[in-house]
Amino acid sequence: MDKYCVIGNPVAHSKSPEIHPVFAAQTGQQLVYERCLAPVDGFAATVRTLVEQGYKGANVTVPFKMEAAALADRLSARARMAGAVNTLSFIDGAIHGDNTDGAGLVADIVHNAGVALAGRRILLLGAGGAARGILLPLIEHGPASIVLANRTVATAAALVDNFTGLETQLAACGFADIAGPFDIVVNATSASLQAALPPVPASAFGRDTLAVDIMYGAALTPFMDFAAGLGARTRDGLGMLIEQAAEAFAIWRGVRPDTREVFKKLRP
Ligand code: ATR
Repeated sequence: MDKYCVIGNPVAHSKSPEIHPVFAAQTGQQLVYERCLAPVDGFAATVRTLVEQGYKGANVTVPFKMEAAALADRLSARARMAGAVNTLSFIDGAIHGDNTDGAGLVADIVHNAGVALAGRRILLLGAGGAARGILLPLIEHGPASIVLANRTVATAAALVDNFTGLETQLAACGFADIAGPFDIVVNATSASLQAALPPVPASAFGRDTLAVDIMYGAALTPFMDFAAGLGARTRDGLGMLIEQAAEAFAIWRGVRPDTREVFKKLRP
């Protein structure tokens, strides 16, 4: 049986081992998918061991996504742009790195929430690793504009400077300069991890706004709570998690699973 795993530290919380076996059963693929706890200073050694043991690939989670990008022999364009890798494929002894997080978010917004991105006004909050992974897949769907707002404006400006000649209007600003409302607001800051609300003004949201937090948990995040209070439709990051897994599965196995079964399992 082909072997895969998710590498992290910690890794016990990862839902990937609950997701991939469902995809495998559904598509008739023979594989095992495990958790792999790597020492904080032992990511590269862990990956080499997996390659030697004949693993076909691995997902990468906190805190190793940037190290995985540095370790990979080859990177997809979206992984290079993100500076981070969440999906490794081991092919003929070479390590291929890809990043399916942004594609997962886009698939969740377009297919699961049913909200088209083409021609829309998007506000992306944050300019760290998560935002970097999301920006290119968003641009590829042809929104009218993307405003990248960050606490440290220079980081957002540097990210925007990577792109020229786009049809999508790209702009960087601080939270105080956000002028809404937007069709879609994505919270890609790590504020929800600290149960904090990023200082986004109420004017960013209207009744037609979809507000997506890339974090998920049992309770609404402060961002979702704030947006819902202003009449926006909200969505947490569970759909992004499931869709990024489907994208990784498709890369590894060449077949795209139907994610509805996993949604029912993880949020009955
Ligand atoms: P990740 O990989 O989760 O993106 P990161 O690279 O450390 O983590 O980036 C964290 C992002 O969340 C940054 O954009 C950070 O803003 P700064 O660049 O100004 O540090 C943002 N962030 C973290 N806590 C925040 C808060 N309480 N309010 C607003 N933005 C916050």
